[in-house]
Amino acid sequence: MLQDVTHVENIRFGDGNSVVIIDQTKLPNETVYLTLTTPKEMYDAIYLLQVRGAPAIGIFAAYSLSVLANGIDAPDFDAFFAKFRELGDYLDSSRPTAVNLHRMVTRMYDAALAHRAESLDGVRKALRDEAVAIRDEDIDMCRRISEYGLSQLQDGDGVLTHCNAGPLATSRYGTGQGPFYLAKEKGMNLHVYCDETRPLLQGARLTSYELQKAGVPCTLICDNMASLVMKQGKVQACMVGCDRVALNGDAANKIGTSGVAILAKYYGIPFYVLGPSTTIDFACETGDDIEIEERKPSEIREMFYEKPMALPEVECFNPAFDVTDHELIAGIVTERGICRAPYRESFEAMFPEHFAK
Ligand code: MRU
Repeated sequence: MLQDVTHVENIRFGDGNSVVIIDQTKLPNETVYLTLTTPKEMYDAIYLLQVRGAPAIGIFAAYSLSVLANGIDAPDFDAFFAKFRELGDYLDSSRPTAVNLHRMVTRMYDAALAHRAESLDGVRKALRDEAVAIRDEDIDMCRRISEYGLSQLQDGDGVLTHCNAGPLATSRYGTGQGPFYLAKEKGMNLHVYCDETRPLLQGARLTSYELQKAGVPCTLICDNMASLVMKQGKVQACMVGCDRVALNGDAANKIGTSGVAILAKYYGIPFYVLGPSTTIDFACETGDDIEIEERKPSEIREMFYEKPMALPEVECFNPAFDVTDHELIAGIVTERGICRAPYRESFEAMFPEHFAK
């Protein structure tokens, strides 16, 4: 059912001393909930992609810090905050590319500091409220992004997407895939082509699973089939999420995204990046300044295969993200509207509060 997908509770508080998540590494074969209580379990959950997707890891870090704050025993605010910051910096170091993680950890520091004059229990309450506010704001932003994204699509369109930027990666609806769920809700017909998204198969394991469960018509393809379906005229638009967007509009997203954008340009298909303003890094000038996470060779050689598919000594290069050049992007769809080139000016007009006067 549509609502089972769009309103899934992927991150929630447990008994007050834990955060409960859906283990995304187990989907689609098993739905397993993990109850996390220690900093190491929380760090690993992000690093191992048990929780993943730029907005989701930001929300998860905020929930985790709220829970960890309950366990900090300190004589005063300064001692409490020193420990709190240590925990936040540790979680923040789990993945480098998605700016949401760093931004939400910083937002939790600011929330603690804003309540420093209160009792430590008052600070802890403020931190819990802040974590919930971060999630509630993401729900609202995803819905708006989905509306703006859908405004670029026509009934009957085929849309190609890469990686997973749906409800599991955010709060409800999603970003890059939010318009597809909204279309279903509004009775509009779209057909979604999902790249499987090597090496970790977020497209196959998560996106095609979510779309299929929601009753959105979809076809799973291997990444190297995108060119063919575009050439066959099956794709009228491409929509993807993002992990960090630079001021010039360069956008980091799952490895393989920039290849899709290059193909789309060749075939004259508009390529949209969808994401909340929490994913725009207003301090980052261009995509060259974005750190790209590199992951283990084993994810390429053997993960998800019954037997290894390469010799153990074969050298591998496993970047988790790439940066799509702003010139390939038809629009960056945010919660306040669609930004168009030149992106810096468009961001400044749409989000003036992030630009110094
Ligand atoms: O490595 P992942 O699975 O966390 O990568 C996720 C993506 O690239 C998503 O497209 C992005 O975070 C946007 S999620 C709304």
